[in-house]
Amino acid sequence: MTVHIGPLRKRDLKRCAEMEAELFAGDDPWSAAAFATELDGGHHYIGAYAGDELIGYAGIALLVGPPQAEAEVHTIAVHPDWQGNGIGKALLLDLLAHVAQVNATVFLEVRTDNEPAIALYERQGFEKLGVRRRYYQPSGADAFTMRRLAPVETRTSAGRTA
Ligand SMILES: CC(C)(COP(=O)(O)OP(=O)(O)OC[C@H]1O[C@@H](n2cnc3c(N)ncnc32)[C@H](O)[C@@H]1OP(=O)(O)O)[C@@H](O)C(=O)NCCC(=O)NCCS
Repeated sequence: MTVHIGPLRKRDLKRCAEMEAELFAGDDPWSAAAFATELDGGHHYIGAYAGDELIGYAGIALLVGPPQAEAEVHTIAVHPDWQGNGIGKALLLDLLAHVAQVNATVFLEVRTDNEPAIALYERQGFEKLGVRRRYYQPSGADAFTMRRLAPVETRTSAGRTA
């Protein structure tokens, strides 16, 4: 079955919340209302669809606009039945392409024990900046903050890199 990526639809938010409860149990999974707030905030949210079925989703927010743009990955998830097929990578590449339009540096948090996600991020140029202790609640799990520098270096008027 062909999987395609497109804008996340409001009618999929209940399914997002179900997947969250399965994938992030113990780490305060988002409700459908929380996803709706994200969409209403104008952030870039996408879904992965097998036919009409939602099998993954991801979202990114622009925190600071140009010229020193900064963005934050808010969520990315693929249904367990579909993991390991390149869908998470495709979702992440879409998010990165979206904020590349404003040459953003991208940040995210990830559980320090989430090896698949850390590998996904490192392969796309993210580096670990540090650990945020007990970032996730109620589990109390630690998070790495990761950063991917803006694709194009910013130049000062003197022609040096900033
Ligand atoms: C993290 C997640 C989104 C990855 O999605 P996926 O569709 O399974 O990932 P892909 O098949 O696109 O794999 C992309 C890369 O991730 C890495 N990866 C994926 N699964 C992995 C695993 N089980 N072990 C190690 N690395 C893995 C690989 O480096 C892979 O790169 P490559 O294909 O270039 O070799 C998925 O595992 C998931 O939904 N996990 C639960 C939710 C979650 O933890 N989200 C992240 C919150 S910060």
